[in-house]
Amino acid sequence: MKYLPLNTITEEMFLAHAVFGNDGRILLNKGTKLTPAYLHRLERMAYTHLYVYESPDEKWDCTGLLSDRIRVEAIRVLHESLIRVVERKPLNEPLISFVIEGLLKDVLQAEDRVFDIIDLKTPDNYFYNHSLNVAILSVLMGRQLKLDREELKELAMGAFLHDLGKAYIKTAMKRLQDLSAKDAAQIRQHTKRGFDILRTGFSLKVANMAYQHHEREDGSGYPLGLIGVDIPLFSKIVATANAFEVMVSNPIDQERLWNDQALQKITAATPAKFNPAVVRALRQSVALYPIGSVVELTGGEQRVVVAVSTAKMVLQHPKNLSDLLELPVTEFSRIAQRVL
Ligand SMILES: [Fe+2]
Repeated sequence: MKYLPLNTITEEMFLAHAVFGNDGRILLNKGTKLTPAYLHRLERMAYTHLYVYESPDEKWDCTGLLSDRIRVEAIRVLHESLIRVVERKPLNEPLISFVIEGLLKDVLQAEDRVFDIIDLKTPDNYFYNHSLNVAILSVLMGRQLKLDREELKELAMGAFLHDLGKAYIKTAMKRLQDLSAKDAAQIRQHTKRGFDILRTGFSLKVANMAYQHHEREDGSGYPLGLIGVDIPLFSKIVATANAFEVMVSNPIDQERLWNDQALQKITAATPAKFNPAVVRALRQSVALYPIGSVVELTGGEQRVVVAVSTAKMVLQHPKNLSDLLELPVTEFSRIAQRVL
């Protein structure tokens, strides 16, 4: 399995994950043979990279922590919530709560799982995937911070809905590269708007995650410029998960960072911008080299990452697919650099 740019994928390859539409429908199933027509369609949907198998017998998974069923349901609920916000209707709290339960069950199922994939975003699915990823990351971090199940649910809810205030703001849904300075100022309002939407029907903690997820420890954030002691833990978690997610999935190719670079950047901005304990939890929750990355070992040999957990990673020989190398986290120093 490899993570490849779309223009290097050939007809002999197979899709290693399902592709979803924004209504939550599966457009292409995992295992689909990539015909020219399918590749053309994916290009039109603005996919730049895909995970592919070179043989239909390959087994490695790159679906992330959520089952397809929960992913589809969550995207559908988020889509419906955006419409409700625009139509000034109250959110369907029981339905959102139901989806969050499913998300929690998936994410907490295996104790050693980490956020291990490179997300495949397009301008169309950006909002949905971003919200889901921030929710998944926040739950993983909350677990590292020893939150209990009820707290994790509240955290997941706020993380999932943290950007809902963008529903009102047309420019917030624009491509990042098309934004003007005026648009950016308008987008800043999404925090307060999110708070106002969630203040009724949800707990204050949940509403605050929308309000405070752009605040920073040193008071340099927005909208209020709160300092560390005044920012609640859940809001710090969502702020950190959000910053990381934005760095690794920037739609502008040149500005997108790899996990290791983003973790370095966030660590360098700690404790000025982020809380040290929360950043530690992030580092324990994210794969330094996600599945599909090609790394070079200190001896010069190249390997493809095919599985990652909190304890170890599995590295596959790029040609001889049955030649696997297991590297415990304690031996990560054997990796000289990320190649791809
Ligand atoms: Fe935001």
